[in-house]
Amino acid sequence: MSIRFIKDKKRFIINTKHTTYAFDVVLDHYLYHTYYGKRTSSLPDPSFHTVSFSPYLPGLSEAQSPDVFPQECSFYGSGDFRPNALRLSTDGTGVSDFVYHSYRIFKGRMALDGLPAARADERTQTLEITLLDSVSGCRLMLYYTVFSDVDVISRYMIVENNGGACATIEKCMSLMLDLNRSDLDMISLYGSHCNELNFQRAALHHGTQSVYSKRGASSHQYNPFIALCDHSANEERGEVYGFNFVYSGSFLNEVDVDQLGHTRVLVGLGSDCFTWRLQPGEVFCSPEAIMTYSPAGIGAMTRNLHRFAREHILPKAAHVPHPVVLNTWEACYFDIDQDKLIRFAKEAGETGFDMLVMDDGWFGLRNHDRAGLGDWYENPAKFPDGLASFVEKIKAQGVKFGIWVEPEMVNPDSELYRAHPDWALQTEGREPLRSRHQLVLDMSNPAVIEYLIDRFDRTFQGIEIDYFKWDMNRHMSNVGSCRLPADKQGEIFFRYMKGVYRLFDWFAARFPNAVIETCSGGGGRYDLGMMPYGIQIWTSDNTDPYARTMIQSSALIAYPAMTMSCHVSNPHENLGSLDYRYKVALGGMLGYELNILNMSEEVKQTIAAQIAQYKSLEHIIRLGDYYSLASPTKYDYSAYYYASSDTRELLLTVIEKRGCPAGSTKRLRIKAARTDALYTNVITGKTYSGEELRAGIRIDLNGTDDSAHLLYLKML
Ligand code: DGJ
Repeated sequence: MSIRFIKDKKRFIINTKHTTYAFDVVLDHYLYHTYYGKRTSSLPDPSFHTVSFSPYLPGLSEAQSPDVFPQECSFYGSGDFRPNALRLSTDGTGVSDFVYHSYRIFKGRMALDGLPAARADERTQTLEITLLDSVSGCRLMLYYTVFSDVDVISRYMIVENNGGACATIEKCMSLMLDLNRSDLDMISLYGSHCNELNFQRAALHHGTQSVYSKRGASSHQYNPFIALCDHSANEERGEVYGFNFVYSGSFLNEVDVDQLGHTRVLVGLGSDCFTWRLQPGEVFCSPEAIMTYSPAGIGAMTRNLHRFAREHILPKAAHVPHPVVLNTWEACYFDIDQDKLIRFAKEAGETGFDMLVMDDGWFGLRNHDRAGLGDWYENPAKFPDGLASFVEKIKAQGVKFGIWVEPEMVNPDSELYRAHPDWALQTEGREPLRSRHQLVLDMSNPAVIEYLIDRFDRTFQGIEIDYFKWDMNRHMSNVGSCRLPADKQGEIFFRYMKGVYRLFDWFAARFPNAVIETCSGGGGRYDLGMMPYGIQIWTSDNTDPYARTMIQSSALIAYPAMTMSCHVSNPHENLGSLDYRYKVALGGMLGYELNILNMSEEVKQTIAAQIAQYKSLEHIIRLGDYYSLASPTKYDYSAYYYASSDTRELLLTVIEKRGCPAGSTKRLRIKAARTDALYTNVITGKTYSGEELRAGIRIDLNGTDDSAHLLYLKML
């Protein structure tokens, strides 16, 4: 049993394979968090320390104020002055105080109302804690779902309004974790378009530090993944707590160090882009947030998160080899037509590609980015024989077919906008701001979703699409809906995401044989909320291998290689050799964006050989355990390896960064190697003992701008 209740102590204990999480019901009211860490059976009892200026319930003392002890959930206005998990009321004050009522432990998990959630397996268990607020009449259920094998616990909440008045939720945080320490660093990933996922690590300080998005997408600017770790923690040592949010819209992750030097972590929808009006009898369900703990460094946390994403988040379709695609974007931009792409497909088939992905430019009057979004039917000038006949001809070249869509957007210069200007997000009296010349459709409006369903259904009728690339190329401003009354406008961000998820569900049901690559101008929605719908995510619009080395290395801290689309792009000056770009792209799922029609036979043959080699390695990259040896954020080079689960195969990659000095020799310790085994580098034929690999394999850095080393070590 992962979850237990010890009656005499009123104690809840959650065990995963290597961790324990515990809390007690105290004072017949509060949930006192006592422990999260290495698996143990010796748990501390709650203790209370007096602090003045902290309010307490009549009959109790300052030491029993909710302001001073670690809790499972805290409520605005009821004596806990730290950032709260919930702000809810029926009287406009925002004040509530939910009191422990009961619990339930059950096998598996419940579905989250229209939201993505981690998949249960036969070992999954859930703890439901019910609390009541007597004044509002609301019932609050906290859920703890346990994914024992991967050391992950997820949390979300449901609020049920059983009172007689409308309750307003003004802040909602799915996960709260109080730690009685603050000697920790916080790791987060920040960035911008074409510069996603920069690694940042800084010591916690008193006050609140946060990452957030108010952009309607999880964003390029801050990723929802964060971690806290010992100041001395490295890849192999130290305590590390990892957090993430299974959601793709605006969010807030807060980390607060309080007056006592204790740390509170909150992950959720926040309050800036969220309010919810809950009428009597209605129920609100928050998105799911997750946490993991590792006593053995950042690397072990990463591997927990990777296994969790692979086994519980990504769809089953991600568990077979992903297609090696030739994408038309960087090769053609908007300049596509049927003849050109059929020639692309022919060359692609002969070179060993699995699929041609027709990117932007195929629909409406989409000859540039100022028109056409929303008009999801083929442009007859580019496809005079129609889409169905075109797709047949593509497939006749021996490749599968993928197509780009951006369902959530509309250009003012489009048939759709001219017919339904009220379907774009907007606030009354203000001209909506543009971004990439486009507006955002009001996905909170069911009529918009119905329209898109009908449109795509008709456009792709009788056509076997194998792959969708689902893009989203701007953030939301002027967030208002023509359809909703004033008191519901604060719900749009959340309703929008539920509309998007509904459309994803429709795509999955309507095109059961197709897979999806998600994208938001590259990595603008690189999150666990997108991952259940797609097999991989376009990591960044920046395909410069030097930038990609940094971006991919940071992405891998939180997300498995399986999720990362890595393309070799059009060669232009300073982008390194084809070999270099290929080896950088081997960090994840390989693809290409090159004009195959302009290519010499020699280049085509090189690419054919790369694809063939990749296909022999793909299973280790996609499913293997990831070990970072040298992060390019710290060193002149990047070194990492993937190990197959039986450790019979190891794939070591070393990428020299621009300006990496020549002549230095690195010893790279491959600790996943088996001591008693002999490994052969399949590429060179050289053999190494497992002991030798564990002690450190020597790699001489060349010091040229585009040197990369690849060793495929296999027990033969
Ligand atoms: C942004 C994506 O990230 C690119 O790969 C490409 O699909 C363009 N959009 C097309 O407009």
